[in-house]
Amino acid sequence: VEEFVVRAGTPLSGTVRLSGAKNSALKLIAACLLADGTHHLHEVPRIDDVETMAELVSAMGVSVERSPDADLLQVTVPPELVPVAPYELVERMRASIVVLGPLLTRHGYARVSLPGGDDFGHRPIDFHLRAFEAMGAKFTTEHGYVEGHCDRLHGARIVLEFPSHTTTDNIVMAACLAKGGTLIENAAREPEIVDLIEMLNSMGARIVGAGTSRIEIEGVDELAPADHTTIPDRVETATYLGAAAVAGGSIFIERARPDHLDMLLEKLRAMGLSITPTSAGLQVERSGPLRAVDVVTLPYPGVATDYMPLIVAMLSVAEGVAIVTENLFRGRFRYVDELRRMAADIRTEGHHIVVRGVRQLSGARVRATDLRAGAALVLAGLGADGETFVSGAEHVDRGYADYAGKLRALGADVERRSTGHGEQP
Ligand code: EPU
Repeated sequence: VEEFVVRAGTPLSGTVRLSGAKNSALKLIAACLLADGTHHLHEVPRIDDVETMAELVSAMGVSVERSPDADLLQVTVPPELVPVAPYELVERMRASIVVLGPLLTRHGYARVSLPGGDDFGHRPIDFHLRAFEAMGAKFTTEHGYVEGHCDRLHGARIVLEFPSHTTTDNIVMAACLAKGGTLIENAAREPEIVDLIEMLNSMGARIVGAGTSRIEIEGVDELAPADHTTIPDRVETATYLGAAAVAGGSIFIERARPDHLDMLLEKLRAMGLSITPTSAGLQVERSGPLRAVDVVTLPYPGVATDYMPLIVAMLSVAEGVAIVTENLFRGRFRYVDELRRMAADIRTEGHHIVVRGVRQLSGARVRATDLRAGAALVLAGLGADGETFVSGAEHVDRGYADYAGKLRALGADVERRSTGHGEQP
């Protein structure tokens, strides 16, 4: 078991290079299932969720090789797959559900364990199943597995009840090889979905409307292997923006895409950060104090729910009172209790959080309850006196490549070490 040890220090300086986006890479690997042959995926981040996805497709008969010195993944898909996603892997990572669409559309059959994953409230898969039913699949649920059967899927008009990210991914992938045209209304618009669609189109798919809430897919009979570069991770970008906000200083975030971050940058500028886009990334500087601003999470292009814990950590040390409203995952508040252990002044009211900034937090032992919570607690430690120990570092490894190392390169005092004991109670 490992933990982060964080001490506040001098203002940050230097450059950090972003990894590829987790929530793109996972879907790009799933999309490889749509075409046999060898795919080349560049800028695939070295994180645990990618390892889990690689294990998942390997269990289906795919070979996944990482080149030793670059973030290149070679994915070789055989003509016949074992169309099963077992409990052990799906339980570890809910995003595994994105193999359902590719398997159904290529094999007419899939057996996928019902998902577990991050512990923040009830996260059902009913949207996915309803969409595939509209495309001709039939499902049964038994022994914790959902089993889907179909002949060749057919196109359909699908109106999503909510612009769900992975549901949109899943439908787009399935529709690529379906018979006829599919129209998704109220589709999710995240940059990672645009990335997936760009890769699919380069493989021979016929998809228009990426990045809008109306996506049209004309089914084709066959796709070719991909050679594709993953977009940079916008949540990782938000994290290093948060580090500069809390610790102060001036840093350069290499590869950052401001066009993927509009609303967040607006909020952070209102909080007092100076953010200047260049052709290579973002220059970020905090010279004065941070100010409180209200934030509401919404589907893209709104402020992402994944930024929430990071923003609350920043607001904990900002001047003034802010109200933060979470609209996507209502159970995603467990990190608030941990921030309170660090003397943050935060109250929750239903799905609202009221944050009253304090001058300085107080270093304490805290626990990462999920991936983004862990990243946020480390940021809070940069604004605390004394030492902050963040246990549960393994949650952070799901989505961050070398978090402590990248922060250290910016001059932050963050170490990672073994706690010397086994699984904590
Ligand atoms: N929903 C349903 N039924 C469904 C699917 C979703 O009711 O079948 C609801 C959810 O419960 C939630 C809302 O729809 O209230 C939106 O969920 P969405 O499906 O958009 O979330 P997701 O696709 O499961 C992705 C990211 C999350 C990110 C959310 C929101 C991946 C692998 N995950 O999840 O990222 O928080 O979109 O933007 O793309 C993370 O990176 O740590 C992470 C959790």
